[in-house]
Amino acid sequence: MPVPFCSDMHPVSINRPLRWFVVACVLFLLTVNARADEPILIRFSHVTSEATPKGHGAALFKKTVEERLAGKVRVEIYPRALKYNDDQALLALLFGDIELAAPSFAKFRSFSRQIQVFDLPFLFSDVDAVKRFQRSEAGVELLDSMLSHGIKGLAYWDNGMRVMSANRPLRKPQDFKRLRFRIEPSAVMQAQYRALGAATVPMPFKQVREALKMGLVTGQENAWSNIRSKGFHDFHRYFTEAGHSFLGYMLVTNADFWAKLPDQVRTELENIIQEVTAEVNKNARDKAKADRQRVIDSKKADVITLTDAELEEWRTLLTPIWKKFESQIGTEILEQATLANQAR
Ligand code: LMR
Repeated sequence: MPVPFCSDMHPVSINRPLRWFVVACVLFLLTVNARADEPILIRFSHVTSEATPKGHGAALFKKTVEERLAGKVRVEIYPRALKYNDDQALLALLFGDIELAAPSFAKFRSFSRQIQVFDLPFLFSDVDAVKRFQRSEAGVELLDSMLSHGIKGLAYWDNGMRVMSANRPLRKPQDFKRLRFRIEPSAVMQAQYRALGAATVPMPFKQVREALKMGLVTGQENAWSNIRSKGFHDFHRYFTEAGHSFLGYMLVTNADFWAKLPDQVRTELENIIQEVTAEVNKNARDKAKADRQRVIDSKKADVITLTDAELEEWRTLLTPIWKKFESQIGTEILEQATLANQAR
């Protein structure tokens, strides 16, 4: 094989080790070129089933990216904690093992104490208030609150209001006595159940169904789509809708990965995320209603709504928790969150 090494040197004059070295160099350059042409890989790990707002959003993101950035970006989805639990996902994101995740707000506590604002009981009057806060200056700034840790928030994705369940109707604080509630790893949720008189067991979402089945935990709270898709109503009869808190997510990426994307790719990904987010959040509202109805239709569950007097009792017990977390969250953020309850 002629080797384009030096014009006045005949190929046979190259000694054997040198010839192998040149071949290796050419092969290396070819591989590097091939890699440069390969699509950018985005691995998206999450913990819920495909039949939830987040699962639907991840699938829609993949479909849209692979249509609009065909050949440039490839997306792999790992649902149902097949790859990582939520707490592991954030470290995996930082280590470069995945590029996208959408953990619930409670999972960000080690990186941003401010994000705890979303879980404070009875802070937001409904989903619209949460959305108004997310669009406010403070809400938008929270997306960047973990940049110093290398995590960039891209969007807010919704699920729905949380519902509490047990095998006894939960109407009054004394109904919580001796119950063990599975909670997300959240100091706010711990304080909430402590105030109601129950014990708490922090646990990854993946393990909750088994823990309910075995009776390791005797209470839980989640959004309807998670309850329905995981079949928590196979083990619990009574579901209380107190409207105390909202389950939402922050779609996050590795800040360094994002900054190093080619400009045109990043801009198109941002456009896609905006469109997918609008779809996810619209779907979340419909899904919450539909999944609530499916749980009722299963005839395995009774939905409990509280009277005004009962609600007042819960509020009196739970709203002092805000004060406990004010120094961690910040007075300004808390004020803007409260203001978001006024429809504009
Ligand atoms: C949970 O841990 O209960 C939920 O946050 C899971 C999820 O991502 O919806």
